[in-house]
Amino acid sequence: MRITFCCTGTKAEPWLQGLRAALPEATIEEWAPGAPQADHAVVWAPPQAMMDEQPALRGVFNIGAGVDALMRLKLPAGATIVRLDDAGMSVQMAEYVCHAVIRHFREFDVCADNELDARWVFNRQLRRGDFPVGVMGMGVLGERVAKALLQFEFPVNGWSRSPKQVDGVRGFHGQDQFDAFLGASRVLVCLVPLTPETVDIMRRDTLSRLRPGGYVINVARGGHLVDDDLIALIDEGHLTGATLDVFRTEPLPQDHPFWSHPKITVTPHTSARTVRDDSIEQIAGKILAMERGEAVEGVVHPDRGY
Ligand code: NAP
Ligand code: GLV
Repeated sequence: MRITFCCTGTKAEPWLQGLRAALPEATIEEWAPGAPQADHAVVWAPPQAMMDEQPALRGVFNIGAGVDALMRLKLPAGATIVRLDDAGMSVQMAEYVCHAVIRHFREFDVCADNELDARWVFNRQLRRGDFPVGVMGMGVLGERVAKALLQFEFPVNGWSRSPKQVDGVRGFHGQDQFDAFLGASRVLVCLVPLTPETVDIMRRDTLSRLRPGGYVINVARGGHLVDDDLIALIDEGHLTGATLDVFRTEPLPQDHPFWSHPKITVTPHTSARTVRDDSIEQIAGKILAMERGEAVEGVVHPDRGY
């Protein structure tokens, strides 16, 4: 069995070492133009040329949860596309989102400002019940985030494409229930995949439906958010701010207004990083399962885009 590795912006050597240790029977090499035909590929944002040269791939394993970059390519007709299924990301995502929600709800930025002037001032007490959090996308990561927020007793709403029941979460699904979901939420957490249906999903008309004092946390993809609409709604006072981890252009350009906006927190696409060892273990296990003809979790449906 031959496996080709083609992960843009990723140091190949530690991955190759780990994959070779996990799959000692396989020949595993970094892809370069003209490389021999492989059975499986381990990829992140590969170039189209790589896919064009590997028409016989049977498995394409993405080293991230989001496959939007892959879905923009023409992929080998017979290949099963498999994404990372948690592999150590959901706990990081839960930490990040809970941190952002709690920092906002408890007004810890006000404490930080007060500390600069040695001011001993109590923050006003806010009611948790007035901060319903809407988790947009109740998949592997969204469900974990929703459950973590419930631990802090925030009311939690969840929105997905198909109906989904999670204890303690008020479930909404489909386009028909989207407005009701937004209207029931004050903090909006974006965790849907970027697909033709979800591009620009956070724009003036949708964000305006959040409860007054709304707050946006985008941890999915920059293409979900219309940047100017967010800034305008914050400046107009309908939204109180945002925590953003993902952007249309990454790295976020130095002159982008998000950097200097006092009510916007920017982090460098770091909310849930790929954990190499966990990912290698998961991918190697799935390659072996596929070779045995078994079904694997995390198969992408190209028709839905995720
Ligand atoms: P997932 O398991 O595939 O979950 C996706 C969820 O979104 C599902 O609940 C799905 O509904 C819902 N959804 C998809 N399209 C929808 C639509 N048109 N309308 C309503 N709901 C829709 O994905 P995941 O593993 O949780 O990852 C989610 C995203 O997080 C990734 O695609 C990626 O963009 C992002 N991510 C970001 C980072 C980071 O560091 N910032 C790290 C990892 C992932 P169904 O349940 O009905 O299918
Ligand atoms: C990171 O953004 C991922 O999709 O895993």
